[in-house]
Amino acid sequence: MTLISTLLLALGLSASQPVKAIPVSGVTSSPEGIEGSTYDYIVIGGGLAGLTVAGRLSEDPAVSVLVVEAGADDRDNPAVFDIYEFTVAEGTALDWQYPVEDGRIINSGKTLGGCSSINGGSWTRGSVAQYDLWSTLLEDSEADVGWNWDRMLHYMRKSENFMPPTADQLAKGAESIPVVHGSSGPVHAAFSHGMYGGPQQPAFIASATNASGVVHCPDLSAGNPNCVSMNPVSINYNDNDRRSSSAEAYLTPVEKKRTNWVTLTQHLVTKIVWVDTKLPLVATGIEFATYTNTTNGTTRFIAHARKEVIVAAGALRTPAVLQLSGVGDADILGPLNITTLIDLKTVGRNLQEQTNTVVAAGGTGFPVNGTGPNNAIAYPNFFQIFGNASDAKAAEVERSIGTWAASQAENGHSAEALETIFRKQVGIVLKDRAPMVEMFYVTGPDVASNQILTVLWQLLPFSRGRVEIVSADPFEYPNIHVNYFNVSFDMDVMVAGLQTLRRIFKTPPLSNLSIGETVPGAAVPDDGKGGTAADWQPYILQNFGSVAHPIGTAAMMRRDLGGVVDAQLKVYDTANVRVVDASILPMQLSAHLSASLYGVAEKAADLIKVAQ
Ligand SMILES: Cc1cc2nc3c(=O)[nH]c(=O)nc-3n(C[C@H](O)[C@H](O)[C@H](O)COP(=O)(O)OP(=O)(O)OC[C@H]3O[C@@H](n4cnc5c(N)ncnc54)[C@H](O)[C@@H]3O)c2cc1C
Ligand SMILES: *[C@@H]1O[C@H](CO)[C@@H](O)[C@H](O)[C@H]1NC(C)=O
Ligand SMILES: *[C@@H]1O[C@H](CO)[C@@H](O)[C@H](O)[C@H]1NC(C)=O
Ligand SMILES: *[C@@H]1O[C@H](CO)[C@@H](O)[C@H](O)[C@H]1NC(C)=O
Ligand SMILES: *[C@@H]1O[C@H](CO)[C@@H](O)[C@H](O)[C@H]1NC(C)=O
Ligand SMILES: *[C@@H]1O[C@H](CO)[C@@H](O)[C@H](O)[C@H]1NC(C)=O
Ligand SMILES: *[C@@H]1O[C@H](CO)[C@@H](O)[C@H](O)[C@H]1NC(C)=O
Ligand SMILES: *[C@@H]1O[C@H](CO)[C@@H](O)[C@H](O)[C@H]1NC(C)=O
Ligand SMILES: *[C@@H]1O[C@H](CO)[C@@H](O)[C@H](O)[C@H]1NC(C)=O
Repeated sequence: MTLISTLLLALGLSASQPVKAIPVSGVTSSPEGIEGSTYDYIVIGGGLAGLTVAGRLSEDPAVSVLVVEAGADDRDNPAVFDIYEFTVAEGTALDWQYPVEDGRIINSGKTLGGCSSINGGSWTRGSVAQYDLWSTLLEDSEADVGWNWDRMLHYMRKSENFMPPTADQLAKGAESIPVVHGSSGPVHAAFSHGMYGGPQQPAFIASATNASGVVHCPDLSAGNPNCVSMNPVSINYNDNDRRSSSAEAYLTPVEKKRTNWVTLTQHLVTKIVWVDTKLPLVATGIEFATYTNTTNGTTRFIAHARKEVIVAAGALRTPAVLQLSGVGDADILGPLNITTLIDLKTVGRNLQEQTNTVVAAGGTGFPVNGTGPNNAIAYPNFFQIFGNASDAKAAEVERSIGTWAASQAENGHSAEALETIFRKQVGIVLKDRAPMVEMFYVTGPDVASNQILTVLWQLLPFSRGRVEIVSADPFEYPNIHVNYFNVSFDMDVMVAGLQTLRRIFKTPPLSNLSIGETVPGAAVPDDGKGGTAADWQPYILQNFGSVAHPIGTAAMMRRDLGGVVDAQLKVYDTANVRVVDASILPMQLSAHLSASLYGVAEKAADLIKVAQ
């Protein structure tokens, strides 16, 4: 790209090329005019990352973009736009409800905006070291592509329109560090009108500090979230707290104006189409079919891609799209009679998902003084949850790396690769002291019940799982095996976290608001130290939930570590197919994922623009 055209682009103008005319623009559920058409870029999945990339690429009027989304456009459904209704969408047609082992499910947004349309909106970021780590898993020659905290901070800020707390919100305990936030990006983040103003959240913060030593900090997005604080959510304060999903942020404001961008809903991409079978594979487009809750379309439509195909179907479905397209483990594809074009065995492996469990107590009848959403989080580190047992536990962790790596080998590239990765993960835990668990304080939707409730999850699991298709039928869900707690340390973290949480509940000032624990209560007797591991373990195994933060299934890593994409997010051995979604994260963050994923997608859009 010339300097002049770059400058014109920055001004939203284009020198030589007129607006790229496409037959249909905006949002439609009809394939008419799309089927058979050609676009510069085709994005598979109109979720968080997919709409972010499409929104940025279509800023250039000379570039045409097609997004194909399996779900419907539900922006007008209160279960989507009203953040106060968080969880109402779960278990409905807006949720894929992916089955996993043992009859569990993982919630996932099946609607325009993907999970960003049904999530809790909690807006936090991981620690500096966790982003810097990404570059260390790439080739040395890729170190300057900028997969580190500094560049990610730039892109996370670019996505963000943050509103610092109002005087009223400051009085309720909200704080922020404005310089780490963006103020002119598309995604709105703020504290809510309904922000709780009763004694419960400050009491939780004080007791967390008192009982675990986790310090109180003003902002969980500043690169050191090992602290406790109130947090903003992805809402537009100036639009009545309306949810700021990727659809509301990147699509709604431009959908009538950009005649070079079309989004097709209620259609499932069934595979990527290739020019031939020679490596590197060159994608010429996609095949897709009508998909509603009463129809699995039998007709296969085609749309052509002039430049690139971008896979953004989310960490549980992106590997399935690749596998259906002949990119994956030949041992899986062969028996399904799918020709393996790239025998990339790690497609779908390295899955990392978190697990949660609740502690609750009855309240004394204190005024909760607000309506939500919930917004207080404690992020203790390894030493703060293991306490006096830390030294012994740390030694055990160091000693176990090799064993753990060997035990997870079939869900990664190899034992050697996982050992390298796990050493870095242990460094994040023990040296960088990144948060190990999240304690998410919940006032409870049923304010009248006046409970005190906290959901706890382990953030950095060592267990690795996998996603693999079980049929050549693209409508069939892939088999998802999370491998929960296969590395026993993941369970030890849950137990230590829950013991600590119980201690927090019993420590003033929070204990003063409580009439006693209700969950788990007598089911896990408190021995004065928060309950024994022997009592907690069976309880957790029966009662844990899946957090819905899956990542890693098309990881951005060197090939010898099990990577599926390189630092350009390009799938190995393809010429023009990238993955841009949670699949590319090589390791969990001590954070809710969306703020970081917007940054990933913003950066991806720039990588793609520069490449052209
Ligand atoms: C219930 C829940 C609560 C959460 N709470 C929070 C929170 O409070 N804060 C936070 O930061 N994060 C939260 N998250 C996580 C966060 O929303 C996700 O990590 C993030 O949205 C993932 O982005 P993505 O682009 O990878 O995938 P998604 O946003 O899931 O997008 C993938 C899209 O692809 C579509 N798709 C899939 N397959 C196909 C196909 N073959 N053809 C066409 N389309 C397809 C899907 O329908 C979906 O729209 C939550 C997630 C869930 C499910
Ligand atoms: C089917 O999908 C439509 C459109 O998304 C939705 O309104 C309806 O509630 C769904 N029906 C069922 C039974 O899930
Ligand atoms: C609720 O919060 C508001 C604003 O902080 C405060 O003025 C009011 O006194 C609070 N009410 C109760 C019952 O705590
Ligand atoms: C694969 O093809 C073979 C030979 O045509 C057939 O016998 C077998 O049933 C097919 N398997 C599947 C899973 O379709
Ligand atoms: C840790 O050790 C100190 C000093 O021995 C002791 O006072 C404290 O109670 C111990 N803490 C826990 C949680 O066991
Ligand atoms: C679509 O296909 C899937 C997988 O084969 C099946 O489970 C589902 O019932 C089908 N839905 C409809 C509406 O036919
Ligand atoms: C871990 O997974 C392996 C392979 O599936 C299994 O044999 C083993 O029993 C599991 N271990 C635990 C602790 O779950
Ligand atoms: C901290 O907890 C101790 C008891 O565990 C209690 O005596 C003290 O008042 C608490 N401090 C604060 C600031 O609430
Ligand atoms: C907690 O309640 C006790 C007993 O009523 C009281 O003495 C103490 O000051 C309270 N502590 C806090 C931090 O509110």
